[in-house]
Amino acid sequence: MKICIIGTGYVGLVAGTCFAESGNDVICVDVDEAKIEGLKNGVIPIYEPGLKELVLRNCEEGRLSFTTDLASAVKASLVNFIAVGTPPGEDGSADLQYVLDVARTIGRNMESFKILVDKSTVPVGTADKVRAVVNEELEKRHATIEFDVVSNPEFLKEGAAIDDFMKPDRVVIGTDNVRTAEIMKELYAPFMRKTNRLIVMDIRSAEMTKYAANAMLATKISFMNQIANLCERMGADVSAVREGIGSDSRIGYDFLFPGVGYGGSCFPKDVKALVKTAEECDYEFILLKAVEEVNELQKLVLTDKINLRLGDNSLLKPLTGKTIAIWGLSFKPRTDDMREAPSVVIINRLLALGAKVCAHDPEAVKEAKKIFGENIVYSNNQYDILKGADALAIVTEWNEYRNPDFDRIKSLLRQPLIFDGRNLYQPSRMKEAGFEYLPIGRNG
Ligand code: UGA
Repeated sequence: MKICIIGTGYVGLVAGTCFAESGNDVICVDVDEAKIEGLKNGVIPIYEPGLKELVLRNCEEGRLSFTTDLASAVKASLVNFIAVGTPPGEDGSADLQYVLDVARTIGRNMESFKILVDKSTVPVGTADKVRAVVNEELEKRHATIEFDVVSNPEFLKEGAAIDDFMKPDRVVIGTDNVRTAEIMKELYAPFMRKTNRLIVMDIRSAEMTKYAANAMLATKISFMNQIANLCERMGADVSAVREGIGSDSRIGYDFLFPGVGYGGSCFPKDVKALVKTAEECDYEFILLKAVEEVNELQKLVLTDKINLRLGDNSLLKPLTGKTIAIWGLSFKPRTDDMREAPSVVIINRLLALGAKVCAHDPEAVKEAKKIFGENIVYSNNQYDILKGADALAIVTEWNEYRNPDFDRIKSLLRQPLIFDGRNLYQPSRMKEAGFEYLPIGRNG
């Protein structure tokens, strides 16, 4: 099948590459000339395990190509995926400008039947707006060409994107056209080997499914963060509680890890957008407002602990003279993505409290430099930054932090003190090893 993917961000690039891998002819389009030039030369703009190899192979075999020429790409393709950004506007609602611009260009250039697929996360009702914009352009051209708009939200996770796309838990197709549903099924058939969970529904429900899924996951996290904070105060251990409740199949173990608050390009944005959508219908989404508030507060938990343990409250900036070593900057492991990363709030707060900060991350240092500049010290060695620091604070659970050389840590830090925002170690083992260990929701 001939496919055009518009937008070469996370979703677009991964989807385009995987569709090429399953044998389709895929053209990926972006307005960013430098990005397209890079991709043509094998430069992948994001870090995602396994992606580079797949892009290179499919380019070499002629199934995947890159261009800035949207008009020609649309003319050549039956299915056109819109996977451009929908950044949050000032009021939290998703900004549809880029989605609608693409729809307009398609309307201006299409010459035969086209399927337009909304793959970006877009609010309920967007497919109708896309349809209206295309119709407007067709009318201007006095053209009567058939087209169909589909909502096909993406559920992939950064860091596991290829696997999530190739072996999805489910694929949601929102359409009211049987013929289009068949074409979409055909496209996804190669990825349906694990489970045949291709769910066809009406367009608005498909659009809502994406927000409901992310909002539900964010709710689980905020819920567990509050349980963790309560465990700490009551002398309970949140890890045991997680085991205890996760064993109930109605609850499940996933997304119940307490931490430093959720981040990334999806949960914060989507929760805000759903609250806003509800407001627009005169409905107050009380629960999600609380989810968001809890998350903002959770980002402060680690620095509160650091301040309580190391701060000198007689000083205007209580952490003056203290150095905190941070392990992990990206919002989660296996990505260099710093969008809405809790580390940003944590580090800025430490700096505001007067501390010096030195940080390590296996992938995100380049991105972090764009945010913190020279205000903090970076190293690509996780032990170097510990030398002379007053404490280690773990912010992202990269694998290289899970089994570190504790003797080395102890010999480098000024005192054996670890604040763990991701609960990587056993409190009892840390005690035996001579550490003062402060995890989340467990007594160290
Ligand atoms: C999320 C969803 O998991 C995907 O299904 C969805 O497709 C994607 O958003 C999207 O809308 O595009 P992603 O943002 O890549 O994926 O990352 P997650 O692995 O979901 O993690 C999100 C945040 O939640 C991270 O900050 C992570 O540290 C935090 N988290 C996750 C917790 O604090 N506790 C947990 O138990 C799980």
